[in-house]
Amino acid sequence: MNANLTELTNALKQTLPSAELEISQLPGLPNMRLALINSDFSTGPLPEQVMRNVIAKPAYWAFCWGSGLALAQWLTNNPSVLAGKRVADIGSGSGVVAVAAKQAGAAQVWACDNDDQALLASKTNGQLNKAEIHLCADIEDLPQDLDLILMADVLYDRSNFALVEKIKALNTPLLIADSRIANIEDTDFTLFHKSEALTLPNLGEFDEFKTVRFFVTGQPELLFQN
Ligand SMILES: C[S@@+](CC[C@H](N)C(=O)[O-])C[C@H]1O[C@@H](n2cnc3c(N)ncnc32)[C@H](O)[C@@H]1O
Repeated sequence: MNANLTELTNALKQTLPSAELEISQLPGLPNMRLALINSDFSTGPLPEQVMRNVIAKPAYWAFCWGSGLALAQWLTNNPSVLAGKRVADIGSGSGVVAVAAKQAGAAQVWACDNDDQALLASKTNGQLNKAEIHLCADIEDLPQDLDLILMADVLYDRSNFALVEKIKALNTPLLIADSRIANIEDTDFTLFHKSEALTLPNLGEFDEFKTVRFFVTGQPELLFQN
């Protein structure tokens, strides 16, 4: 196992002692492999101290969230959205969206996350897929001249609507994929696509969270222009 995978496994075990990292294939992404929590990890009730650890430091990066999967699949099927562009993935987690963006033809990709373990996961998963991913812990440190900003499954935390406002102020098209938000209630965004996806490994999510909605600032057609 390479040093990054060992470090990530140790980090995961600090939260979930019986968990392992498994190199997993993802539906609709035949060229991608991600280090994710073992697929047979029990989703049953956790011991109290483990639950406290999960709440204190959730290893979001050890899952490929449904919205990230749906966005990665859509980018893979729509490479013209990325061709030659400089792109950032905010709330990158495992890096599934960042890796898909690079694989689909983006010139440069930044994975941005405020969890240092997620940044290590994005870097490691980039390396597993031979996709060069730049890292960034704070959107303030992103390059000014990006062409597109992506964000998947970050609005589970309503306080992240403030992050959306900060990103909008960068005046770069922002594409949000989210299964928790049915209506973004912001007239700057247009709903332009829906698809179905589940978090992997399966967390047994409610049916209402299987539909992933794609919103973009500006005209959706502009996404496809270079
Ligand atoms: C549910 S995970 C989604 C990860 C990935 N996009 C996916 O779809 O698989 C949310 C991620 O957003 C990150 N995050 C949450 N709030 C953030 C913020 N304010 N700035 C940057 N990252 C944030 C978390 O650390 C976590 O990695």
